[in-house]
Amino acid sequence: MSIVGTGNFFGSPEEERDRLVQALQGGKRQTTKPAEIPTVRLNDGNKIPQLGFGVFKVDPAETERVVSEALEAGYRHIDTAAFYNNEEGVGRAIAASGIPREELFVTTKLWPTRFDDAEAGFNESLEKLGMEYVDLFLLHWPAPRNNNFVQAWKVLEQLGERARSIGVCNFLPEHLRQLIDETTIVPAVNQFELHPALQQRDIQEASKAAGIAIESWGPLGQGKYDLSKEAPIAAAARSHGKTLAQVVIRWHLQHGFIVFPKTVNPERMRENLDVLDFELTAEEMVAIDNLERGARGGSHPNDIN
Ligand SMILES: NC(=O)c1ccc[n+]([C@@H]2O[C@H](COP(=O)([O-])OP(=O)(O)OC[C@H]3O[C@@H](n4cnc5c(N)ncnc54)[C@H](OP(=O)(O)O)[C@@H]3O)[C@@H](O)[C@H]2O)c1
Repeated sequence: MSIVGTGNFFGSPEEERDRLVQALQGGKRQTTKPAEIPTVRLNDGNKIPQLGFGVFKVDPAETERVVSEALEAGYRHIDTAAFYNNEEGVGRAIAASGIPREELFVTTKLWPTRFDDAEAGFNESLEKLGMEYVDLFLLHWPAPRNNNFVQAWKVLEQLGERARSIGVCNFLPEHLRQLIDETTIVPAVNQFELHPALQQRDIQEASKAAGIAIESWGPLGQGKYDLSKEAPIAAAARSHGKTLAQVVIRWHLQHGFIVFPKTVNPERMRENLDVLDFELTAEEMVAIDNLERGARGGSHPNDIN
């Protein structure tokens, strides 16, 4: 993993003045320069910004605005899915931004009901995004009862440059083993529910052992538990002068996880990106690790078929 330019990133006096003027005018402010965001090198050689922006449950009618604001705040990695029904809005925001395509990292996902016609599902996603390629294409769930993720994966293996990297979501160790045994390309990432109260260390270990990068979904616990009641998170927030969400995002980054919190709120977009100027101590990391209690907020991977 390469960490690029972390640390303090207050700009020159001129940049600071421009920011202040913009803030006073109620203008939009970019807190983090995209170049400051650390990257992770995947097992296929591609690089992914370690901190991105997720759009699960962003209303399709709101998505273009929300993603435009996220790009404005400095995000360059967007995580969507066919299932979220908002790929068009993501594509429109990116097209309108004028940001060169190669400076962006876009992920989308194939829902299990399309595993039998994976290429058609992939083409539909590209069309909705209005793109010639995605940076990362994922199988959304293993759907083990359908017994067709291997077949779908073999289609993903053939997508070539149209899907620069390919990976999986919600794969348990046994699903990873089967996929690796029966196919050629090892997934670049495994994206699964991961936050302080549910860390799924068995999946982490199986992924790492196979050289698969870990992406945390629901990184803030999806708002399903109150972070202010988690003493080590609250203590770290006080000690670093940061918010609860910033401490949790920092915990993911320091573990090497790829993370893309979702928010529709522009202030929170900037807050969630403003996490590169402090570091949790080893003791704080362990105290947050100890919050593990198997608190699953989403579905179990064997239950979506
Ligand atoms: N592969 C999969 O199966 C899967 C499943 C779920 C999610 N995902 C991906 O992972 C991304 C992130 O997960 P998620 O969206 O489920 O959950 P999340 O990022 O853990 O939490 C989102 C919730 O936290 C709130 N929030 C965001 N920033 C905050 C802040 N600074 N302070 C307080 N509250 C804040 C948001 O509210 P507001 O919007 O009101 O600010 C929203 O209710 C998704 O968007 C999606 O891209 C993948």
